[in-house]
Amino acid sequence: MNKFSIAIDGPAGAGKSTIAKRLAKKLGCTYIDTGAMYRAVGLYCIWQHVDYRDEAKVEEVIFSLKIDLDTEGERQIIYLNGRDISQAIRTDEVAAAASKVATYKEVREVLVKAQRQMQSEKSVVMDGRDIGTVVMPDATLKIFLTASVDERAKRRFEEYCKRGLTVSMVELTKDIMDRDYQDTHREISPLKKAIDAIEVDTTALSIDEIVDKIMILMEKA
Ligand code: DC
Repeated sequence: MNKFSIAIDGPAGAGKSTIAKRLAKKLGCTYIDTGAMYRAVGLYCIWQHVDYRDEAKVEEVIFSLKIDLDTEGERQIIYLNGRDISQAIRTDEVAAAASKVATYKEVREVLVKAQRQMQSEKSVVMDGRDIGTVVMPDATLKIFLTASVDERAKRRFEEYCKRGLTVSMVELTKDIMDRDYQDTHREISPLKKAIDAIEVDTTALSIDEIVDKIMILMEKA
């Protein structure tokens, strides 16, 4: 197969990473989790006591970060200046910081450049918010995944329970709605469906059904 690229965009909790990972495995290509890269910037700010709400401060440090992605079997590993941060980025505090730093022009420019570089080197399935619109406007296939807010909150709730954490559905629903608002209303590269993206509502579909559907779309692309 020639080099190809699949863009998967959509709101938090729509199932992007699960689906993108499965697709990459089936197609034998690289999965790139761009959200993890924004989370790495957020985590760096928290660790270095850089106020992530202050755009100028974040822009001062963005060039001191080296973010590398790697895969080990099914697992995606992300390194920040050589340190494995794959677990550390999966907290609500880091998610909130990531959502904020993702509104900054300079941060987006640096990360988008790195993402395009990866696409130019190999076949990829890349997930995020601006992949079909900004990062890979020339992608072979663009998918926009959606699911109702209730369903996304339910999925997050189950994820938390599996990790042995307690959280209320009310809190999770509010968190998802806040992030949706921030991601869709920011000035630069807001979350939106590319004109040529195919929307897949995952609310009532199983993971296998979604993956099968996208594989059929890929055959036709
Ligand atoms: O997908 P995620 O929850 O790991 O993403 C973390 C934050 O990063 C999210 O609030 C939106 C932002 N993001 C972005 O603006 N652009 C991307 N391509 C990926 C994520």
